[in-house]
Amino acid sequence: MKKLVRGGTVVTATEMFDADVLVEDEQIAWVGRSEDAEADEVIDASGCFVLPGLIDNHTHLSMPFGGTVTADDFDTGTAAAAAGGTTCIVDFALQTDGSLLKGLETWKANAEGRAHVDYAFHLAVSEASPEAIREIPRAVEEGVSTFKLFMAYKGALMVDDLEMLNVFEAMAETGALPMVHAENGDAIVFLQERAAAAGELAPRFHATTRPPEVEAEATSRAIRLATWAGSPLFVVHVSCEPAVAEIQRARDAGLPIYGETCIQYLALTVEDLAREGFEGAKFVCSPPLREAYNHDVLWSALRQQALQIVSTDHCPFNYETQKSLGRDDFRLIPNGLPTIESRLAVMYEYGVRGGKITMPELVRMVSTAPAQLFGLAPSKGAIAAGADADLVVFDPSVETTISAATHKMNVDYNPFEGHAVHGEPRVVLARGDVVFRDGDVVSSPGRGRYVARDCVSLGS
Ligand code: URP
Ligand code: ZN
Ligand code: ZN
Repeated sequence: MKKLVRGGTVVTATEMFDADVLVEDEQIAWVGRSEDAEADEVIDASGCFVLPGLIDNHTHLSMPFGGTVTADDFDTGTAAAAAGGTTCIVDFALQTDGSLLKGLETWKANAEGRAHVDYAFHLAVSEASPEAIREIPRAVEEGVSTFKLFMAYKGALMVDDLEMLNVFEAMAETGALPMVHAENGDAIVFLQERAAAAGELAPRFHATTRPPEVEAEATSRAIRLATWAGSPLFVVHVSCEPAVAEIQRARDAGLPIYGETCIQYLALTVEDLAREGFEGAKFVCSPPLREAYNHDVLWSALRQQALQIVSTDHCPFNYETQKSLGRDDFRLIPNGLPTIESRLAVMYEYGVRGGKITMPELVRMVSTAPAQLFGLAPSKGAIAAGADADLVVFDPSVETTISAATHKMNVDYNPFEGHAVHGEPRVVLARGDVVFRDGDVVSSPGRGRYVARDCVSLGS
């Protein structure tokens, strides 16, 4: 089966040029121009950018968290991903009953038969017992090459420094990449107890009890611990200037430290958390949303590649039935935002149209860099002969307003509600299949495949 994506402007991580893309079955056959190319289907890309499918390396589907379970499963979550131009996700499987391998098995079962787009897994280590550490090489063999440690969420997912060191050492030995949620969990409990004693229980106190220094301290500590153990490190959802400064300093010293931010930290602020009544609960995520000046700091860090990736940290909870668990106490509001569908729109509107980044930089941050850092390249993250035919035909002329009334995510609100944006996918192809066309997800649950990932050599 041949499909010709005709008449668009192809955007890669380094350049833009007018070209057609011929897709043969699951792969790209060639990129170029040919008057007499034959195809079973021609996809009109005139007036559009043709991008490599986005990769979202930070999602939480069907994840038990904060006393409830995230609202999107692998069907609804990956359908929403496809609608937003994302053709591959890397989701976080949680250690289950003390076992990493059981966690992987559980998450594979969650995804099997449901996913619309390809998926891979990181493993979150919440209890770094000797038994769990011994499972790491086996998990790597199974295609999990990245392991996340939470330095926050005390009493739930948080690990201590000794556990971190043991995991970092195992990473150095296996070639896997550790990832950290960098916030000092003990400091947060200390600040939360003080806030509660003062009766400060509204959603806005989520931010005051997780100030930027709490993130910066943990970032700096994680960098040191990883360095002592001889391991590279990836810092997830970096939100603020002092945390960026820690990463920049390490990179300036030649250390293999990498990081991402997420669209919410580029387009929303702590003012959203302070909205009237309980509305702020819609914006409770960790690290918290920050003051607006951090947007420029993050764009600049991305441009300079102190941070390499923009992901979503999609972690959806319904406002009425789940965020409401914390109506009387912000500490009980499940942490996380529904964002998987809006990344391209937000990046194009605030990044490219806002004059912060170019189109190739956008492609680098949302597709090529995640493919390279997370072991999905060269199949994914590129428009080149032989790569998977994961393509987004993106029409920049369309003007829309983001809204829960029209989104595909299985959640009752959208944190970007009312944001007027330009551009939306016209057609999305995933391994050669049209999965989204003219506003509708047209794939079936179960077409997405598990992708086993190799370790990437990032130095130490
Ligand atoms: O608030 C957030 N970020 N929820 C998802 C879990 C995590 O920390 O990544
Ligand atoms: Zn996290
Ligand atoms: Zn997350």
